[in-house]
Amino acid sequence: MSEGEKSDGISRRGLLVGGGLAGLGVAVGFASAPRDSAPGAVTAADTSTVPFYGLHQAGIATTVQDFLTFAAFDLNETASSTDLRDVLNSWSSAAALMTRGESLGFPTNNYDIPVDSGEAWGRPASALTVTIGYGASLYRDHPQLGLSAPALLKDLPAFTGDDIDATISNGDIAVQVCANDPQVAFHAVHTLARLGSGIVALRYTQLGFGRTSSVNAQQESARNLLGFKDGTNNLRSNAESEFKHHVWVGRDASAPYMVAGTYLIARKIRTRLESWSNAPLSLQEETIGRFKVTGAPLSGTNENDTPDLGALDGSGNQIIPSSAHIRLAAPGSNGGAKILRRGYGFSEGLDATTGEISCGLYFICFTSKPESFIKIQENLALNDALNNYTQHVSSTVIACPGGLSRGFGWGDQLFGR
Ligand code: HEM
Repeated sequence: MSEGEKSDGISRRGLLVGGGLAGLGVAVGFASAPRDSAPGAVTAADTSTVPFYGLHQAGIATTVQDFLTFAAFDLNETASSTDLRDVLNSWSSAAALMTRGESLGFPTNNYDIPVDSGEAWGRPASALTVTIGYGASLYRDHPQLGLSAPALLKDLPAFTGDDIDATISNGDIAVQVCANDPQVAFHAVHTLARLGSGIVALRYTQLGFGRTSSVNAQQESARNLLGFKDGTNNLRSNAESEFKHHVWVGRDASAPYMVAGTYLIARKIRTRLESWSNAPLSLQEETIGRFKVTGAPLSGTNENDTPDLGALDGSGNQIIPSSAHIRLAAPGSNGGAKILRRGYGFSEGLDATTGEISCGLYFICFTSKPESFIKIQENLALNDALNNYTQHVSSTVIACPGGLSRGFGWGDQLFGR
C-alpha cells in the first residue's frame, strides 16, 4: 500500500481535488477517528450506521430517518472530466467515513485549516445516508465531459397548476442526505460543498423534518404536517419483487452504472396550512380519502385495510370520493404505476403575503421509470381535492446510479475506470 493510501483504497492524491480543500492548501488525509470520541462529545443519541457500500445506494430502501438535507450543485463551466471525477471520488470517500460516524480529521496544529469543519464532532453516525444522482443538465450542458445521459433522464414536464421556481429546481448533481440528527446531515452536505469548491457550486439546499413515509413493514406510519398518517400504502422493501419492478433500474445500455440504481424525483409542495387546519374534519377526510385519527381508508376500519375504491354508501355515492387523493394516486387509477415515497415536511419562516407559517411537503420519490411519477402527477394535478391547499414550487429529477463496492468511487463509477 503506497504512502497516504487508506485501507479502504482511498488515496491522498485522489482527495486533493481542484479548488476544494486542496485549494486551501489542505490535504484531505482523513483521520478516520470516531466523531463521538471528540472532546466535549454530546450524549450519543443514535449510534446506528447504515452501510455505505452495497448493491444499491443507501437512503432509498433504508428505514426512513427523521431529518433531511437535500442539496443540488452545478458544475463549473470550465471543469474537466478529471476535475469532476476527483470531486466525486473525494465525495464518496468522505461519505463512507461520515456514514460510519468518523471524522475527516481532528486538527493537529494551529496553522492548517481544519480538514473537518467540526460541527458533527461528538455526534454519532445517526444512521446517516448520502444518496447521489445526476441531473439532465449535467449531460446536456457539459459536453466536455463526454458523458451520455441515461435514456430515461429528462427534466419533468410542466403540470397543471405548477408555479415552479427554476432556482430551486434540478441541478447538475444532487444529494439526498438523511440522518436522525439534523446537524449530522447538515455537516455531510457542508463537507461535500467544501470538497467540491471551485469545481461545483451549491445551487440550492432544502432542510426537511418529520418523515412522511415508511419503507418497510417494521416502521410505523408517521404523520405529515396536515396531521394525517402518511406512507400507509407505500411500497415496502420487504416486497422485493415490487421493488425490483418499480424502484430499481434493471438494465440501461445508455448508462451501465444505472443498473440497480433508480430515479429520484423531488417536488417542493407548499401547503396552505391554516386553510387546511380550519377545514371541517369530514372535508379533510374526504380530501385524502382516509380517516384522520386512525389512517384507515374511508371504506374500512383499520389503517392497513385495502381501500375499496368501488364501495358505495346507502345513497349510491362513492365512499372514497372521485377527487380523493388516495383514489387518484392509486395504481388502479394510473395504469398500475407505483412509486416509493420518501418525503419530509419543511417549515421556513413566514409567508410574507399571508403572515402564516411557510411550510409544506418536500415530496421525494424513487422510481425505475420517471414516467410512473408523471402519470400519477398528471392525474393529481388535474383532479386532486388536495390542490385547494397545495402549490408545487420546485421540481427536480436525478438519475441515481447503483451502489458502490469498496475501493471504487462515484467518479470511477460515472466515468469508468
Ligand atoms: C402536499 C402534498 C401531499 C400530501 C399532503 C400527501 C399526503 C398523502 C396521504 C396522507 C396519503 C395516504 C396515506 C398513504 O397511503 O401514504 C397519501 C397517499 C399517496 N400519495 Fe400523497 N400526498 C401529497 C402529494 C403526493 C404526490 C405529489 C404524489 C405523487 C405524484 C403522491 C402520491 C401518493 C400515493 C401513490 C399514495 C398512495 C395511494 C394508494 O393508496 O395507493 N402524493 N398521500
